[in-house]
Amino acid sequence: MLSRVALRSRPVAQAALARTTPATIMSSRRMYATSKPDDAKADKVKSITVFGAGLMGSGIVQVAATSGYKVVMTDVTEKALENGMNIIHKSLARVAKKMAPKAEKSEEDWKQQVLERITTSQDPAEAVQNADLVIEAIIENLKIKQDLFAFLDSKANKDCIFASNTSALSVAEISSKCSEDRRTRFAGVHFMQPVPAMRLVEIIKAPKTDPEIIEILLAITARMGKSPVNCLDTPGFIVNRLLIPYLMESVRMLERGEATAEDIDQAMELGTGHPMGPFKLLDFIGLDTASHIVSGWQDKADQGLIDKKLVEPSPLMQKMIEEGRLGRKSGRGFYDYSSKL
Ligand code: CAA
Repeated sequence: MLSRVALRSRPVAQAALARTTPATIMSSRRMYATSKPDDAKADKVKSITVFGAGLMGSGIVQVAATSGYKVVMTDVTEKALENGMNIIHKSLARVAKKMAPKAEKSEEDWKQQVLERITTSQDPAEAVQNADLVIEAIIENLKIKQDLFAFLDSKANKDCIFASNTSALSVAEISSKCSEDRRTRFAGVHFMQPVPAMRLVEIIKAPKTDPEIIEILLAITARMGKSPVNCLDTPGFIVNRLLIPYLMESVRMLERGEATAEDIDQAMELGTGHPMGPFKLLDFIGLDTASHIVSGWQDKADQGLIDKKLVEPSPLMQKMIEEGRLGRKSGRGFYDYSSKL
């Protein structure tokens, strides 16, 4: 049987074929329970710069700093950075309860140690000066991401690895304004929400990504306590390619009047063991984010890369977005969270 390292060193499509044997599936199950970082590879990066201080960006900053990396959190306004630091403080307080005793430090000391590894910046050029890895977690807009990376390409060290935390845009397209050399050091790293609690990270190989860069990113995310998976640069990668059609079909089921949101949620939670039914999850992810993913796939559907039915907009979701019912973050989505704000 092939080991996971042997599989990784081959093209992912071939590896995928090899993985479909029952024996390999059993082996990868065992591997995800015990995913161990390759220290030599994880040590190739000492300093990480994260662009975007929102929920995803601040979560990535937190898990990177918790695992010993020096991190610069970057955003355009002081207010955004303050908000990011507040999210980190709250989340660290939850994590410290579990981590501090292991580290034989008090919770406060442990938090302080993590926070000392984090600095903030509003100056992108300065923020990447000493970075070994840049992770971008800004708005899901192709042009804005392309422009940011094109700018950073001229400012960062030539060995610096670039990674996008895009939910569903093409990594190759995001990297297309960078130099050919940089594109070999460019990949996707897709964390899940809430980043400190979810163990999965998708490591996305674009056609030009050097396999060694994939190995380094697998090692770094494993050091962050995650269980990373490999995937190709296809619309939605693994998680969103499966999750978004399921969420959209749930909304269509509600639109057709076949069941209430509460009953659909209960069915999926109690019937299939999902921690959140589709409507709670949509509220959690944000209706605007889910809708962006769907509309970002429009040209992929036009090119025949994805089924056109998957990208059909939902009138109900559009109406809710127009009314500002975006989910938890706005206090109301399919459910009411106003008392929790
Ligand atoms: N920071 C740190 N820890 C956190 C946390 C945070 N923000 N949120 C949750 N946790 C931890 C809690 O401390 C707790 O840890 P212990 O079990 O060790 O005590 C654990 O996570 C469970 O949390 P809670 O007990 O508060 O609540 P819960 O059991 O209801 O779990 C949840 C909350 C983890 C969010 C769970 O409901 C869940 O897994 N939901 C599904 C989330 C999901 O599907 N995420 C993926 C979304 S898709 C995506 O992100 C991709 C995209 O591009 C759109």
